[in-house]
Amino acid sequence: MPGRLRVAVLAGGRSSEHEISLASARSVLQALDPEAYDVVTVAIGRDGRWELEAGDASLTPAAIGRSVAETLPVPAANAPAALGAVDVVLPILHGPFGEDGTVQGLLELADVAYVGAGVAASALCMDKDLFKKVLRESGIPVTRSVTLRPRDEVAHPFAYPVFVKPARLGSSVGISKAHDETELRAAVELAFRHDEKILIEEFVDGVEVEVGVLGNSDPVASLPGEIVPLGHEWYDYASKYEDGGMDLVIPPRGLADDVIGRVQEVAVDAFRVTDCEGMARVDCFVAGGQVIVNELNTIPGFTSTSVYAKLFDASGVAYPDLLRRLIELALERRERRARLAY
Ligand SMILES: Nc1ncnc2c1ncn2[C@@H]1O[C@H](COP(=O)(O)OP(=O)(O)OP(=O)(O)O)[C@@H](O)[C@H]1O
Ligand SMILES: [Mg+2]
Repeated sequence: MPGRLRVAVLAGGRSSEHEISLASARSVLQALDPEAYDVVTVAIGRDGRWELEAGDASLTPAAIGRSVAETLPVPAANAPAALGAVDVVLPILHGPFGEDGTVQGLLELADVAYVGAGVAASALCMDKDLFKKVLRESGIPVTRSVTLRPRDEVAHPFAYPVFVKPARLGSSVGISKAHDETELRAAVELAFRHDEKILIEEFVDGVEVEVGVLGNSDPVASLPGEIVPLGHEWYDYASKYEDGGMDLVIPPRGLADDVIGRVQEVAVDAFRVTDCEGMARVDCFVAGGQVIVNELNTIPGFTSTSVYAKLFDASGVAYPDLLRRLIELALERRERRARLAY
């Protein structure tokens, strides 16, 4: 069918969030209108190998390896060329080697439009330490923390409990809530298994809210949603992905309209000062009437029932429309940049 946009969906990837990426990509493939889009899937293995396959809504780990048109060891000279043959790429990848600017760099080299944040914003927002420095500089409140590298003394100025987390990961992998010094030691050891840089964060006793942001130069915020972990002390991995592990309340209970407006403003501010584009999910706490940013995800969980999609659905943007809009934003950015003199 002529006139259809050629879209490549990148799925899987090398990070511990590989399976989550596959689930997100499956939802995307199901929602992309075949009348409008000619879709090819690029499945990236845990070993980093790229496999190009024809559009297939039944993307499963088992299906990867079947109907493979071409295998690209990456980085490979022909990867940019193969990607350059499509109109737009949807990198539906979470965590390191996907959400952190690495894949975005490859897509820039391939000179192809792609959905979401660019190289610098992706790398910045993946790194909770650097991200918070930029927000602080812009006057946006963030959770207080100290940053540790492997040989640093394990010390912090906060009262217990504290949160300990790898600087650059997601899905709560490697994160612990430590209630005393013994737990702190174990938490630090665990976090260092996942990253060379970790954070010890002050515990924020507040309402946990997440907000979706959509746009390029004129981003809009969704309604915020309140995260209510069910049967879990905090929003850990199990709570995120177990059926019934959490409740998303849109809009949050007990927050006045002006506070909700403030959460949306802060989310858009965080998106702007980090140079984000396309989409982001901003995770915040509201404590004592103050909005505090915890972190920003440039490629949030992206199934049709993920928080990001639910927040926009509740705000009047249905999942297929969200995808259409993100693709438009990707094309708009590429066109805009193509006019720049380098
Ligand atoms: N400073 C804090 N105070 C209170 N709770 C916290 C704090 N830091 C993290 N948490 C809890 O831990 C969860 C995971 O933390 P965070 O969002 O930083 O991790 P992540 O792995 O990057 O998550 P995501 O899956 O959103 O990428 C939060 O959703 C929250 O429930
Ligand atoms: Mg989070």
